Amino acid sequence: MDDAMDEDGHISRNRAAWNEWAAKFVEPGEKAWTSPTPYWGIWGVPEADLHVLPEDLDGLDTIELGCGTGYVSAWLARRGARPVGIDLSSEQLATARRLQGEHGITYPLHEGNAEELPFPDASFDLAISEYGASIWADPHAWIPEAARVLRPGGRLIFLVSGTLALLASPDNGDPPTDSLHQDYFGMKRFEWPDWPSVEFHLAYGDMIRLLRANDFEIDDLIEVQPPEDAKLFADHEAMTSLEWSRRWPCEEIWKAHKA
Ligand SMILES: C[S@@+](CC[C@H](N)C(=O)[O-])C[C@H]1O[C@@H](n2cnc3c(N)ncnc32)[C@H](O)[C@@H]1O
Repeated sequence: MDDAMDEDGHISRNRAAWNEWAAKFVEPGEKAWTSPTPYWGIWGVPEADLHVLPEDLDGLDTIELGCGTGYVSAWLARRGARPVGIDLSSEQLATARRLQGEHGITYPLHEGNAEELPFPDASFDLAISEYGASIWADPHAWIPEAARVLRPGGRLIFLVSGTLALLASPDNGDPPTDSLHQDYFGMKRFEWPDWPSVEFHLAYGDMIRLLRANDFEIDDLIEVQPPEDAKLFADHEAMTSLEWSRRWPCEEIWKAHKA
């Protein structure tokens, strides 16, 4: 694969990391594929509580950016959409292909980088990313690409780690505390000790300006608060406690549409 966008090595590092981590995501992927209704983020908050997806998905062309095991696109397909998935990791895509076969829901899966999408302009009605390109790709590259492949009026929905959760995370990679450890101004690229990967996260003003510069109008910013009895969706012990996530948003879901 051509890594033209990879001058700083984040693509090759994230591809290697996700090929290694893919085995741990088989079980959560299998569980999500079997769920008839969508749920979101590390706490698995139901769609009925968050209203992330458009009411009517029937006949929409959708692209999932960093589709991983592919369950989000499976949920979209069950609601009548025509999904396409793209992901950097061949191992994640192998799980997605197997689950497509087992569930009888097949849609195109591409191995590639969401920062340089192999699709023509104005090909899709909805671009979605749940902890996919939304945190592992450079927003100054993937958001313009999402804008390019969306049709006028097309929607962009993406879930990212909560801004406060990142700011409250100590340098040693421990879970967020109740004080701030990271600088807000200039925040973009995050690397944690013992993690081979690179993450990206913009400050609110920078994200708003980036979306607007790419002809997006912002519809919502959902700050996820898990219910009191929430259980972790998968192996995310190191990320945030329920107590923390009940007080501050550990996840944010941006919703926008192309003007
Ligand atoms: C948390 S997982 C996928 C999320 C998906 N909702 C799931 O759990 O199966 C993140 C995915 O993003 C993919 N990814 C990371 N950087 C990417 C990039 N630049 N372009 C496309 N996919 C990328 C990884 O390979 C990984 O499969």
